[in-house]
Amino acid sequence: MNKNYYINILKARLSPERFSHSLLVVETAMKIGEKLALNKDDLWLASLLHDYAKDLSCPELLAVARKNKLITCKVEELQPGLLHGPVGAFLCQQDLQLREQEVLQAICYHTTGHGEMSLLDKVVFLADLLEPSRSYAGVDELRKICEDDLDKGLLLAFDGTLQYLLREKLLIHPLTVQARNRLLLVRERRDIE
Ligand SMILES: [Fe+2]
Ligand SMILES: [Fe+2]
Repeated sequence: MNKNYYINILKARLSPERFSHSLLVVETAMKIGEKLALNKDDLWLASLLHDYAKDLSCPELLAVARKNKLITCKVEELQPGLLHGPVGAFLCQQDLQLREQEVLQAICYHTTGHGEMSLLDKVVFLADLLEPSRSYAGVDELRKICEDDLDKGLLLAFDGTLQYLLREKLLIHPLTVQARNRLLLVRERRDIE
């Protein structure tokens, strides 16, 4: 894989802050994924490109999403920022000829999560939240928990997101609810067995 090719494309596309965030997400994802059974090229690519569409405006995101039938629910129309995941995956496929489905899926769902998250999806999702420039309340605790138990960290991350959405009276994406439910059900099953 020609890493510089992707790095240069991303650098030309994103603001310097977003580009440096992307590099930090790569660094964090590779660290989290070090001992996990993951394709490291896929992990590198998905974490680098996860915000490929992040610097598009809301009208631009909506236009690409509508034209290519990427919208899955009303929440995305009302909060188009959420579309930077699916639109990013679509554009990576279209502009960069990226064909790795696992990578495209991790990019697509890095903001909402979803009910069938792969290990790659989970690591990219968490690396985005945990990269070293993130400084929200509870981030250090989340970093620590993720070192021991990725799913426990993920559950805590979804709890934090949902609490924020409730507090701010924002819409909740159904995929985020599905993602959290799935984590809880899996844990419950594990406790019973
Ligand atoms: Fe993002
Ligand atoms: Fe990000």
